[in-house]
Amino acid sequence: MMTVPRRLVAGTGWKMNNDAAATRRYAAELAPRLAGLPTAALDLYVLPPFTSLHAAAEAFAAGPVAIGGQNMHWDDAGAWTGEVSAPMLREAGCRYVALAHSERLAHFGETYEAVRRKINAAFRHGLTPILCLGETAEDRAADRADAVLGGQLETALADQPPERVAEAILAYEPRWAIGAAAAAAPDYVSARHAAIRALVSRRWGAAAGQAVRIVYGGSVDAENGAALVALADVDGLFVGRAAWTAQGFAAIVAIVAQAAMTKGAAP
Ligand code: PGA
Repeated sequence: MMTVPRRLVAGTGWKMNNDAAATRRYAAELAPRLAGLPTAALDLYVLPPFTSLHAAAEAFAAGPVAIGGQNMHWDDAGAWTGEVSAPMLREAGCRYVALAHSERLAHFGETYEAVRRKINAAFRHGLTPILCLGETAEDRAADRADAVLGGQLETALADQPPERVAEAILAYEPRWAIGAAAAAAPDYVSARHAAIRALVSRRWGAAAGQAVRIVYGGSVDAENGAALVALADVDGLFVGRAAWTAQGFAAIVAIVAQAAMTKGAAP
């Protein structure tokens, strides 16, 4: 099979940070910092809080950065107090939605069965899902990380045909490495990404396995990012704290742009 280099991804989830005013400042500070970088070769996204989405859609409209939601409901509308739907995210200008983030699982009781329904809704409404996968520290200690990742993939993507799976972004975020002191070690990340790609190939076919982007997240910063995104099966970085400022995100984008050139993923 002919292999086409995958477009690399640089994205940041702001979590509960950056209100609308801060969002406008961030976008204004980011634009000149990205101006000299080959961003056309990359997929860039920021995931602001819901109340900042309209400001983000306006502020980022002229540049290369797309916006997305940090979560959403599986239904289009209805009696779901406190929730936001895929059509609402689309109306607000989103192209992406993150699903199954570790903080959703850990603090809000989210399950991969619910995520399966959310993935359906995302595709139904033209949102690219960023599906988070990751083992806990206990899973890692018990040497069952790949089995756990396989179960998460199987459940979340159960309803998807290969061509949909190929369009998703998979975010490998070991749950013990999020908000931690250090990212996972490159050789560990390399093994998990290879395992995830093999699982996708086995279940949805080699073409989907080859095409799907698998990004790494969990305590990525400007120091450790280059070694991680240089790995063969790592197709980008998903960053929290280190990209909550425009300066921080610009540094990450620069690292990913450099990797795109090295990997031949830039046009
Ligand atoms: P972190 O967050 O980079 O601050 O560890 C990553 C994430 O939650 O996706």
